[in-house]
Amino acid sequence: MIRIGMLGFGTVGRSVYDLLQAHTESFPDMQIVSVAVRQITEQRMALYPTVQFTTNPDTIVTASDIDVVIEVMGGQTETYRYLRRALHSGKHVITANKDLIATYGETLQKIASAHQLTLLYGASVAGGIPILDALTNLLPGDETMQVGGIINGTSNFILTQMSDAAMNYDDALALAQRMGIAEANPVNDVAGFDARYKLAILAKTAFGANVVTTQIPTQGIQEINATLLDDAKRLGYVIKPLAVARRTGQELAMTVGPHLVPAAHLLGKIDNVQNAVQVKTRNIQDLVFTGPGAGAKPTASAVLSDLAIVHDIVCGRQLVHEKPSLQQPVIIGTAAGRYIRVTAPATYEIDAIAQANQIGIKTMWVRSHRATILTDTVSPATLARFEAALQQQIGAKIEIVLPVYQE
Ligand SMILES: NC(=O)c1ccc[n+]([C@@H]2O[C@H](COP(=O)([O-])OP(=O)(O)OC[C@H]3O[C@@H](n4cnc5c(N)ncnc54)[C@H](OP(=O)(O)O)[C@@H]3O)[C@@H](O)[C@H]2O)c1
Repeated sequence: MIRIGMLGFGTVGRSVYDLLQAHTESFPDMQIVSVAVRQITEQRMALYPTVQFTTNPDTIVTASDIDVVIEVMGGQTETYRYLRRALHSGKHVITANKDLIATYGETLQKIASAHQLTLLYGASVAGGIPILDALTNLLPGDETMQVGGIINGTSNFILTQMSDAAMNYDDALALAQRMGIAEANPVNDVAGFDARYKLAILAKTAFGANVVTTQIPTQGIQEINATLLDDAKRLGYVIKPLAVARRTGQELAMTVGPHLVPAAHLLGKIDNVQNAVQVKTRNIQDLVFTGPGAGAKPTASAVLSDLAIVHDIVCGRQLVHEKPSLQQPVIIGTAAGRYIRVTAPATYEIDAIAQANQIGIKTMWVRSHRATILTDTVSPATLARFEAALQQQIGAKIEIVLPVYQE
């Protein structure tokens, strides 16, 4: 019997328990024996009589009769200490915690490897999509070149409502909050931090890259408004919250934020809380995975999928594929076409400055004393030079820049 201790018994934890109970035929020799929670209530004990509840996670992570620890309680520093202790005490660890993995994943992985244990976190990115599994098990000999897509359902819901139901940002956010899709403090989702954690985990899995999350260029969706959505539509695009990592040699071009996506592209059709990840590899070239990114059952299902892997490993099957590691890659901004809004009506002057800075302009128009420009591919350095030249030469200010997704 493989004995499981679980940290947390909230939305995801209870669902993991229920799914495991409902599928005993697939996991006949696995059992959740103890669970750490903040509060032990009479009702909890009555509903789950076979579970030993504790308010002290330490008793689980150090217990001699626990083989696997499933962490679904959230938190970072304290939770990291618990998981470190669990690994030092010889337990396999499964977690759904993206913040923790993006920050401490590398250290925990080293401890796990040193003890010949498994650390799995399939539920931490795009819960219902087995994307980490797919990236890990790409055919030997193939190489991932690019990975990314829509990995924050809250931002995607807000932008979908703004675009399809003509809501303004505040109303769309309020709706998301009423529906339980956005938290009372939504900053993690709308400012791109959640997607940044997940992108770091995708980059680790796809490229073996250890990325410091704060180095990833990140833009929130708070500045998106009806004008930008209309402009995008006029140009044949929709605005989607993307997180993308593209490898070139030892460099990783990474970006998180709202992008212009061709309306006909698959990612342009992924709406509301749905997630989608596009993977480009040298051999297969193009794969798109789509599905629910969060929610109790999809996330719990991803945890069970990790549990099945641990089961195989405990039973002697070695499944772990090592990726060629980028170790400490150079994180660079992404060269891409750009949608730019500038506070200056004189298009001939902007045109001249663009030409002097080797920027190709695909389209430009002026409306309400704002120039809207769609450029060819521009590097972050060229863009910075263009911005400085606009300011110095004609006193024009760039109000917003959105990258165009490179298909
Ligand atoms: N919800 C999703 O759709 C989703 C999707 C992907 C990943 N995740 C990740 O999964 C994790 C759990 O999310 P959730 O939505 O299930 O959270 P949740 O509903 O808030 O549940 C958290 C659970 O952890 C317990 N807990 C928290 N701090 C604790 C502590 N210091 N000691 C003991 N127990 C503690 C809570 O106990 P009480 O019940 O007594 O308060 C509760 O049972 C998070 O890392 C989250 O990012 C969630």
